[in-house]
Amino acid sequence: MSVPDIPLEDRRFLFITGKGGVGKTSFAAALAYAMAQRGKRVLVAMCGAHERLSGMVGAPPIDHEISKIGDGIWATRIDPTRAMEEYGELVIKVKTLARAVFDNKYTTTFFRAVPGLHDWAMLGKAWYHTTETLDDGRPRFDLVIFDAPSTGHGLDMLRVPKVILDIVPPGVLRRDAEAAWALFKDPVRSGVVVVSLPEELPTTESVELVTALRDELELPVVKLVVNAVQHPLFSAEEHAAFAARPALLEVLQDDAVDAGERALSVAARRAAREQLQAACIARLEAAVGLPATRLPFLLEGAGTPEGTATLAAAL
Ligand SMILES: Nc1ncnc2c1ncn2[C@@H]1O[C@H](COP(=O)(O)OP(=O)(O)OP(=O)(O)O)[C@@H](O)[C@H]1O
Ligand SMILES: [Mg+2]
Repeated sequence: MSVPDIPLEDRRFLFITGKGGVGKTSFAAALAYAMAQRGKRVLVAMCGAHERLSGMVGAPPIDHEISKIGDGIWATRIDPTRAMEEYGELVIKVKTLARAVFDNKYTTTFFRAVPGLHDWAMLGKAWYHTTETLDDGRPRFDLVIFDAPSTGHGLDMLRVPKVILDIVPPGVLRRDAEAAWALFKDPVRSGVVVVSLPEELPTTESVELVTALRDELELPVVKLVVNAVQHPLFSAEEHAAFAARPALLEVLQDDAVDAGERALSVAARRAAREQLQAACIARLEAAVGLPATRLPFLLEGAGTPEGTATLAAAL
């Protein structure tokens, strides 16, 4: 599938996924920050019981209610049970009736029977925020960034709208799933962003993830992000010189070894790490057919407002 070359800030919905711990939330925070600086109104919607975003932007803890966490940035941590209730209210229109229906054990059983309905409540809620408008008719948010679960669960979540289209009879649930799916498949207005690390396993997993997203779900993968990239220190000649002395990688770091040799060995290890990193990024880009956006490795970590600002500057 060819994806039009449209900047991320001109899209309405981005689904951020990737292996656990690769930096999805750090990237989502940095992207929101960068987009807000370009004048966009951005909502970051997250799932999961724990959130690290508030620390990354220096805001109070984020819960289910949408809160403003910076200039042009809002956030919500979507709670699946509350999302289901709200969805029931939307479908049924009357709050008390919705409560009664959702308390009813038969409806609860029915909802359990629809596979992944909790996932859909979260994804559907994130999608719903793309449809909201302000009094003057402008969208409430220019861009919704969905900080999705990692690889396996992220894929399962994206499978749900299709399941609903396959098994649920016409009605509100189906109508919304159709509208959401149409947005997710639209390579102009939406897209999936895959975040990875410049290491062997995350690279392999990212290639598999992109394949599943494209071949099985037929969704547009609009960006690859390789996070925590070490700034290259050595020239091609220096790499060649290190490669000619592989024994340097075996030098022990103890007092018995000459200090100069120890320092050279540390440099050789760093050079080897840079080579591995470059090879992983090249493998990912070749397999996926997209250039990777590189985010720098931050010695002090990415969990602070300063870290977020540094990553945002790299976008
Ligand atoms: N560029 C970076 N440099 C250094 N540390 C980083 C960088 N990006 C992320 N980290 C650190 O890696 C850890 C994981 O980052 P983050 O929470 O963004 O990952 P995640 O993919 O959202 O994880 P999860 O799958 O648990 O949601 C955090 O401690 C974060 O500070
Ligand atoms: Mg996260």
